[in-house]
Amino acid sequence: MKGIILAGGKGTRLYPSTIAISKQLLPIYDKPMIYYPLSVLLMARISEILIISTRQDINKYKKLLGNGKQIGIKISYSVQEQPRGIVDAFFIGEKFIGTDDVCLILGDNIFYGAELPRILMRAKEENKGATIFGYHINNPKDFGVVEFDEKGNVLSIEEKPLKPKSKYIVPGLYFYNNNVIKMAKKIKASKRNEFEITSLNNEYLKNDNLQVHLLNKGIFWFDTGTPNSMFKAASFIENVQSHQGFYVGCIEEIAWKQGFIDDNQLKELGNELKQTDYGKYILSVLGGNKK
Ligand code: TTP
Repeated sequence: MKGIILAGGKGTRLYPSTIAISKQLLPIYDKPMIYYPLSVLLMARISEILIISTRQDINKYKKLLGNGKQIGIKISYSVQEQPRGIVDAFFIGEKFIGTDDVCLILGDNIFYGAELPRILMRAKEENKGATIFGYHINNPKDFGVVEFDEKGNVLSIEEKPLKPKSKYIVPGLYFYNNNVIKMAKKIKASKRNEFEITSLNNEYLKNDNLQVHLLNKGIFWFDTGTPNSMFKAASFIENVQSHQGFYVGCIEEIAWKQGFIDDNQLKELGNELKQTDYGKYILSVLGGNKK
């Protein structure tokens, strides 16, 4: 399975912070935002990843993450000329996906929880058509909202409904079989002239191929598209890291746990950053054997 991180967009809700730089390069506490979605793909044991961003910013991502070799994976890059919608990732990524299945994650989504690796592996291994997630939030209006019947079957997904039919929204993490390329081509642009991921998921639903896995209370999810949500996510991460001593979104640690890099490579990465707590943590993982 291949992985795509969609890290373009306009980031208008974060203006003026994102006038000159892509949102996903901004820090969430102690590391760039894109580290968090990248760490999710690593947890799903996905090691061939495409990063999509704007022409203006793509080289900055290359500078940050290179070809991925340092963490034992392969990263390639593509430009999205216009923010035409999330489904555009499958048009841009068609060649990259080839004949594989694919996991798409939005560059501004953060997931955390002890169960996460198991949930990801299950979605990856059991996916037949599309597997997406349902996450309970208090104010679902700004998202894609799942409608269920009384037996819990999914009836539809509504994009930004005025009257949400449940409190379960669809976070920005999606697993698709290779049909996604064909299915994406069937979608028409929405009123706001975007190729909406909700339209794609409803297309899978019509074909009886959509699974919605509900995420339980032990999983935390943040969409970091506004100053407030960025602040909340940063505060949560600072709390977890300083209180529990486990880091969130440490790509080097996860790559090592997955066996993508060995002890020596991890040590080298830690040494490069040893003036920071982040680097010291990487080195401590080796010493303390946090596996
Ligand atoms: P959004 O937060 O919906 O859009 P945005 O990032 O442009 O921000 P704003 O609404 O403040 O203007 O996008 C969700 C994620 O998907 C985000 O990580 C950016 C990414 N994205 C793209 O890369 N290309 C696109 O065409 C769209 C719609 C989103």
